[in-house]
Formats: sequence, structure tokens, C-alpha cells
Amino acid sequence: VKDARIAGISSAIRVIPDFPKSGIMFQDITTLLLDTKAFKDTIDLFVERYKDKNISVVAGIEARGFIFGPPIALAIGAKFVPMRKPKKLPGEVISEEYSLEYGTDKMEMHVGAVEAGERALVVDDLIATGGTLNAAIRLLERVEVEVVECACVIELPELKGRERLGDKPLFVLVN
Ligand code: PRP
Repeated sequence: VKDARIAGISSAIRVIPDFPKSGIMFQDITTLLLDTKAFKDTIDLFVERYKDKNISVVAGIEARGFIFGPPIALAIGAKFVPMRKPKKLPGEVISEEYSLEYGTDKMEMHVGAVEAGERALVVDDLIATGGTLNAAIRLLERVEVEVVECACVIELPELKGRERLGDKPLFVLVN
């Protein structure tokens, strides 16, 4: 994205080396949340892109998709649906497995939160390998929701997560 606001957003993200383990450069968005201009610019850029796209549901991925998703949903007049780690949602759920570096994890969504034919935007803070967003897309498509696009603040392009999204468009602010 070419926008004068991107530089401020990028510089508000703190990189913490060797967290949570050696060799990982952790992209910490909590510092972005402390910068009122950069945080607002982040939400505004997404809202400007999605406000006239007929999106009825913003699906946010635990945990940091719960920070960026709701303000976008409110601003574009869409509902917010949390995509959660296992055993967190109290109602009936559907779930999809996805692979981690070691082993697998599951993502869950409440049955009845979305209806067939709805148009969804999937929101998270970051795409690395793309496994998480891939699971979110599968969950929504199982109940015949159309995933219009995935939106993240940060992409780690060297991990080629984009390739795991198939033909789904991915929009990111910072590389
Ligand atoms: C991070 C990030 C994404 C996911 C991306 O979450 O917030 O949700 O990893 O990785 P991927 O593209 O390789 O699937 P994390 O697993 O740290 O969970 P958390 O948000 O609950 O801390």
C-alpha cells in the first residue's frame, strides 16, 4: 500500500528479538496501540478499503484479530464474529485443524453466527505461514460464507503465507 500513513504505522510496531524463543523476531503491535495516531490510521486504512464492499461480517482471529477487527466492523456496519482457540466458545461450534511448527491446533466458530451467502472479511494482526488464515477461510466456506478478502497489519513475506490462501486476496499494510 502506498499511503503517507504507512510509515508511522510501521515505526510504531516494536520488534523484539528472540521472543517467544531464540531466533524469532516478534512483531509487537502493543506499541502501535499506544500511538493514538498510528492506531487510528491503521483502522482508517482498513475502513476506507472495506466500507463500500458489502461486507456483512468481520471475522477476527484470536487473539490480536480481536483488537483490530471490532473497530473495523463497527465502522463499516458489519457484525463481528470471533474465531477462537478450542474450548473457549460456550455454544455449539464447528472447528478446523491447522498445523503449527510442532503439532496441530484448532480454530472454532459458533454455529449460527453467520449465515450462508454472507460476505466476510477475515482480520488478524499478522500473517506468517498462512496456516491460521487458511483455517479461518475453511471454517467460513464450510458454512457457505464468501470470504471477500483477508486483512492483516503485518505480513512476513519470506514465509510465503500468501501462497496458502489460494486465490483469496490478502491485503496488508506493512511488510
Ligand atoms: C500469531 C498471529 C497469527 C498467527 C499467524 O498468533 O497473531 O494469528 O500467529 O501465524 P501463521 O500465519 O503462521 O498461521 P499466535 O499463534 O501467536 O497466537 P495468539 O494470537 O493467540 O498469541
